[in-house]
Amino acid sequence: MIKSKNHIHFGNCIFPLNQQFILSLVLFTGLLMACGHKTEVATDQKGEAFIDDLMDKMTLEEKIGQLNLVASSDFITGDFSATDIGKKVRDGKVGAILNIRSAEKIRTVQKTAIEETRLGIPILFGLDIIHGYKTIFPIPLGLSCSFDLDLIQKTARIAAQESSADGLAWTYSPMVDVSRDPRWGRVAEGSGEDTYLGCLVAEAYVRGYQGDDLSANNTLMACVKHFAAYGDAEAGREYNTVDMSKLTLFEYYLPPFQAAVDAGVGSLMTAFNEISGVPSTSNPYLLRDLLRDQWGFEGFTVSDYTSINELIEHGVATDTSQTAELAMKAGVDMDMQGSAYLNHLKDLVDEGKVSVDLIDQAVRRILEAKVKLGLFDDPYKYCDEKRLKTDIMNEEQLAAARESVAKSCVLLKNDNNLLPIQKDVRSIAIIGPLGNSKKDMLGNWMAAGEPEKAVTLLEGIKNKVGSDVRVQWTEGCKVNGTDKSGFTDAVNLAKQSDFIILALGEHGWMSGEAASRTDIGLPGVQNDLAEAVIKAGKPTTVVLFNGRPLAVTKLDEIAPAILETWFGGTQAGNGIADVLFGDYNPSGKLTMTFPRNVGQVPIYYNHKNTGRPIDPQRPGFKYLSKYIDSSNEPLYSFGYGLSYTTFKYDDFSVKVEADQIKIGVNVANTGDMDGEEVVQLYVQDKVGTITRPVKELKGFQKVMIKKGESKILNFTLIKDDLAFYHPDLSKSFEPGEFVFYVGGNSVETLTETLEVH
Ligand code: BGC
Repeated sequence: MIKSKNHIHFGNCIFPLNQQFILSLVLFTGLLMACGHKTEVATDQKGEAFIDDLMDKMTLEEKIGQLNLVASSDFITGDFSATDIGKKVRDGKVGAILNIRSAEKIRTVQKTAIEETRLGIPILFGLDIIHGYKTIFPIPLGLSCSFDLDLIQKTARIAAQESSADGLAWTYSPMVDVSRDPRWGRVAEGSGEDTYLGCLVAEAYVRGYQGDDLSANNTLMACVKHFAAYGDAEAGREYNTVDMSKLTLFEYYLPPFQAAVDAGVGSLMTAFNEISGVPSTSNPYLLRDLLRDQWGFEGFTVSDYTSINELIEHGVATDTSQTAELAMKAGVDMDMQGSAYLNHLKDLVDEGKVSVDLIDQAVRRILEAKVKLGLFDDPYKYCDEKRLKTDIMNEEQLAAARESVAKSCVLLKNDNNLLPIQKDVRSIAIIGPLGNSKKDMLGNWMAAGEPEKAVTLLEGIKNKVGSDVRVQWTEGCKVNGTDKSGFTDAVNLAKQSDFIILALGEHGWMSGEAASRTDIGLPGVQNDLAEAVIKAGKPTTVVLFNGRPLAVTKLDEIAPAILETWFGGTQAGNGIADVLFGDYNPSGKLTMTFPRNVGQVPIYYNHKNTGRPIDPQRPGFKYLSKYIDSSNEPLYSFGYGLSYTTFKYDDFSVKVEADQIKIGVNVANTGDMDGEEVVQLYVQDKVGTITRPVKELKGFQKVMIKKGESKILNFTLIKDDLAFYHPDLSKSFEPGEFVFYVGGNSVETLTETLEVH
């Protein structure tokens, strides 16, 4: 018998608390008999005794079933138990399912597991809830540009509220893969190139999804992914090989995972890639030595989609039996969709190749997760038809979505203060293939998002200006393709309008998984469209929609204003309109460098100096680290983003007090509008026993400063904040000279140098 706060549970029969005493006194014996084949088990506070008890009763096959995660294609109509997955569930061969969206369907499947299996162990239902569930928020790369951790946490909280009402208990998020390569489509799912920011964002997501109490019915278990270094795929090609030094791995790629573990993330997913010859899914060093022994991770691990089976293609196994052996020994607890565990673990035990003890450890961790989520107390707790009406796409959630769109926008260019658009404008032309595309607004990984509910740019602008202003849209050209037949209409419309908004970029599906690009410019003939329309001579801004940094060098030359909006989700059009009309003064800053051309990639702000850095004193000198056909400088650097107001930095001071480094700076709003600024602090360690980056982000504060006012901002660092990994993988601080930089981006900064011992 499992007791919970609100329910009493006799085997698979659950009764509300107010009925429990009468029921238990009068019907106790009868009920136990009626619930028939169910095993009654006891639990203590931690669930350990309960799990011991349950595991004692489980056969090896039932244990292996718990390690099996199957993907459904959101099926289930008619008789579920007659389907293939239904049969597997009934046979106790499924521990978790991914890709079912709906409380009703999940209830049906759960019922089969609870009522038609010998032990009635609940199934864990998961989905890729990456940037919202029904209310879709901006893609994570966009959200990270807000530098607003509370906002990011809030979006994850809302995603958890919505999806947990619809049956789900587990999300495959956050994706914390640091990446320096915009060719890789999955940069859309992460928070960019910086490790320090990546750690803070990882924690914010975990806190948002899991809340304070994983057993609450409106929280989700998070799954940090993809462990590890997936973002450094060679040539930016999806699933490609990764080969890097341990120093780089430790310094830049692992910390966000450790931050998620420290924040209490419940599960972790392995990656598709190999690192230095060992696939992540068969990597005991990553999954046991680091994750368990050094970091103390207590949750469970899951492979990526069929990544266990893919060990054959990687060339470390000859058949699926061997893949199962390698993955289990390496420390992968759950097999996503490959059935390698299901089909081979029993034989591997019989052959003496895998111990039952190893399997028990994995099973225990998965059962623990189910206990933590409260699934044994009430397996239907996430199927709350009442909450479906109140907790999904309500006003507050939509307002948060709109705010997050505005805060994710990055103003890249604004010549002569062209933006914001004056409210007395009489006619607006929206020109371009992304001007009225609902589906594209949701970007990749749209969970249960409904494209028809997304607000396009055209709709957002219309909502903003009302019926007195003429707002028209013409496509001009497709996102991809060579057809220019729409240019004439586009130019004519531009000529008849007061203000032009060019809506350009990528389709939503052009970033995300399996969406690497070798050309990261504007696709198709969009540059030509922009040129033709801008030539019409009307005030014109570009609004960009994309899932990665784009090399928009040509656009930067010809367009007077450019607003980067990513894929904003359900409220995209409304949030962008807020920015375009100045109802929200843009404050977003890039979290990934925009290159001038694809040849500069990988390009990132915290690079090393080299022995022959560019020397402005010797402009004609050949033998320096540079290109002969391109500048080294990016188009837009990390941390960059304009505002409708201006900020002036002065009174920068850095001093050591006791064991702390105290940094102060005065930031004044010198423009005509109130505005938020992301004040960024960077540090360079001048001389080390190993080389150090030219600068590294060590702190930031997002502050609202009213026009004409100023604020003194203080940062405190300790020596540990300046520590770094050494070749023996120990982390320590080296005394010496440090350069401190503060500013509104990573390039234009005030500088102070200080000895720190
Ligand atoms: C992706 C994961 C995702 C999984 C389940 C894989 O292809 O790499 O990020 O969580 O599918 O959908």
